[in-house]
Amino acid sequence: MLSVTEQKDMEFSSTLITQFDDIVTRYPEGKQKSALLPILHLVQAEYGWLSSATMDKVAAYLDIKPIEVYEVATFYTMFFLRPQGKYVLEVCRTGPCCLVGAEKIMDHIEKKLGVKEGEVTPDGKFSWRGVECLAACGMAPVLQIGPEYTFYENLTEQSVDQLIDNLKNNN
Ligand code: FES
Repeated sequence: MLSVTEQKDMEFSSTLITQFDDIVTRYPEGKQKSALLPILHLVQAEYGWLSSATMDKVAAYLDIKPIEVYEVATFYTMFFLRPQGKYVLEVCRTGPCCLVGAEKIMDHIEKKLGVKEGEVTPDGKFSWRGVECLAACGMAPVLQIGPEYTFYENLTEQSVDQLIDNLKNNN
């Protein structure tokens, strides 16, 4: 994953453009805007988040207005509009998870990582945030970690410690 700050002069790699081209061919001519969501996923996978510079480039590539990209990117919560850690811990904060300790889990993650919700640890490895129901209420409390969206269920402070320690040891 590339780390990118706001770079007005950034360019997508030829590999990425080839992937964009492949996606666009799946849609009828003139309907290239339909490729927007999968292209934004590719861009986020490459850069870790969607800067306004990258969204403007996507708009130019698809020959649509930048606002058409922004309105999609700001609607779907799976898109990050600011830099994130390599691992983003997304903790369900909806009712059933809260009833069995989700808020305590979030407090614990904040203490363990030493960063507030939405912030990135100094080593760039972690960020975390509360999200709405992850549809695993029967295994509450729950968190997921992208980009594969692996689920971790029946969380306890001990299992969260173990999870974070294991991730810290990953490259
Ligand atoms: Fe947490 Fe549904 S309320 S997974």
